[in-house]
Amino acid sequence: MLEKKVVDLLNQQINKEFYSAYLYLDFSNYYYEEGLDGFGNWYKIQAQEERDHAMLILQYLQNNGEKVILESIDKPAIELTDAKSILAEGLKHERYVTGLIHTIYDAAYSVKDFRTMQFLDWFVKEQCEEENNAESLVKRFELFGDDPKSLYMLDNELSGRTYSAPSLVL
Ligand code: FEO
Repeated sequence: MLEKKVVDLLNQQINKEFYSAYLYLDFSNYYYEEGLDGFGNWYKIQAQEERDHAMLILQYLQNNGEKVILESIDKPAIELTDAKSILAEGLKHERYVTGLIHTIYDAAYSVKDFRTMQFLDWFVKEQCEEENNAESLVKRFELFGDDPKSLYMLDNELSGRTYSAPSLVL
């Protein structure tokens, strides 16, 4: 049995991760519509990763005999105005998610829930990687986004991203 406040936060996080998947699918659709298929691919795979994050938390709760509560997923709330600002919004969203993970970690720490802390270690590391990836996209678009040839090459590079299952096994 895990502490209720930890379980509640983990259940909320399932919803946040599915929301992230939904948000990034929205990003992906926008880029495909704009003809930037590489960016579209990059965010479609990111959406798959977010779904994985949700499923890992769901599995963790089930492994611990806790009830999983699925709430409705909000409509993506970020306005898709242009290819560049979406990337900045993506970075902002990842920083927000990092804060959420830290809040759960803090709750687990406060009740000496070492099992959940160990489970969340993977997410803490993953968030560092996700923020770095999002930051790199922002920087590279700033550098190359205004030059069509460079943007074409960057888009082409991003089309090479492939999905791989998460390294965390429960
Ligand atoms: Fe599941 Fe991008 O954080």
